Amino acid sequence: MASTRDWFETVEEARRRAKRRLPRSVYLALLAGSEQGVTMADNTAAFTDLRFAPPRIADLPAARDQAVTVLGQDLSLPVIASPTGVQAVHPTGEAGVARGTADAGTAMGLSSFASKPVEEVAAVNPRLFFQIYWSGGRDVIAARVERARQAGAKALILTLDWSFANGRDWGSPRIPERMDPRTLLRLAPEGITRPGYVLDWLRQGGLPGLTVPNMAAPGEPAPTFFGAYGEWLGTPPPTWADIAWLRGQWDGPFLIKGIMRTDDARRAVDAGATAISVSNHGGNNLDGTPAAIRALPAVAGAVGGQVEVLLDGGIRRGGDVVKALAAGARAVMIGRPYLWGLAAAGPAGVRNVFDVLRGGIDATLLALGRSSVRELTPDDVIIPHDFTHGLGK
Ligand SMILES: Cc1cc2nc3c(=O)[nH]c(=O)nc-3n(C[C@H](O)[C@H](O)[C@H](O)COP(=O)(O)O)c2cc1C
Repeated sequence: MASTRDWFETVEEARRRAKRRLPRSVYLALLAGSEQGVTMADNTAAFTDLRFAPPRIADLPAARDQAVTVLGQDLSLPVIASPTGVQAVHPTGEAGVARGTADAGTAMGLSSFASKPVEEVAAVNPRLFFQIYWSGGRDVIAARVERARQAGAKALILTLDWSFANGRDWGSPRIPERMDPRTLLRLAPEGITRPGYVLDWLRQGGLPGLTVPNMAAPGEPAPTFFGAYGEWLGTPPPTWADIAWLRGQWDGPFLIKGIMRTDDARRAVDAGATAISVSNHGGNNLDGTPAAIRALPAVAGAVGGQVEVLLDGGIRRGGDVVKALAAGARAVMIGRPYLWGLAAAGPAGVRNVFDVLRGGIDATLLALGRSSVRELTPDDVIIPHDFTHGLGK
């Protein structure tokens, strides 16, 4: 656990500390977002549009239960770490996320663009879900999936909501190809203003490698982030037949991430998905599309009886988790919040973020008079009539 002195009480405080600790370009890489940031902003704003039913004041449950089973794993709370490439955020990288999530009693998604090998991360948190993109074609993808299976991954996540948007109105950080002397010279002014960050890296014996070991061909060295990104960019997007083929390569739980439409949700079920995540990649896909939570009621209504429905995008407090569950999600995933926690305080900061959410969920359940997250229903939230922007009709 984070020591009392380092403990932060909200996700927003984790963000502030991450901003103070990280070099500006690394902080901006975590913030991400596309174009004007309309969708990114709506992901969080939409949770404010949703309100709770008025609290009850007596006969409240003395104990509240948050345990859920997702993708075959028993979790202590309905929140999972969504896959992100955590290049350069903290020397422990994804192993630090694994430590924090394991200590919090939950699972993590590991990106194929992660900076640490899947074997190393699975050894720290065995409740690991490996995430892949449709990159490189069937043979290459089958080899990556097989490696994840051998490493003990418990589920496969296929992420499909990336359309290579480029250009951010607030500017994109210049991410280096590798840390050579020229790059170090260019980044030196940023490093000087963030000595704690630089020292953390030097203490563990190096600088960010900026390679993606889980994208390596068998027996080959890890490609650089940009090398792997180029392969992905050059791969024709998958058809539903490709997705059904991939499902056939994996005999465990299979999550399709990035669903925002009821027709796609139904097709995901037909392709053999056991779970879906309603997601717009944290506002990193087509800008101007609605917040993920706005699509949730319709998608959960369409396929909630057939697959596990998750949601990610914009969760910043325990109350947001409760709103998503009341609107039809079984659990949620978070991205930026745990990255900020990792940046602020390493693995203990990751756990701190999950504990903040756990506390918020508990307080909200108490006020709503619910003894378990499984008791939540749409009656626990007030959904404005125009909230869903007509999605699913
Ligand atoms: C910096 C960053 C990197 C990401 N990398 C990946 C990735 O490699 N794979 C993936 O499926 N999603 C990726 N995502 C999307 C997240 O898994 C998740 O959908 C999103 O962060 C949820 O929104 P939130 O940050 O508001 O919680 C990334 C998001 C961010 C912010």
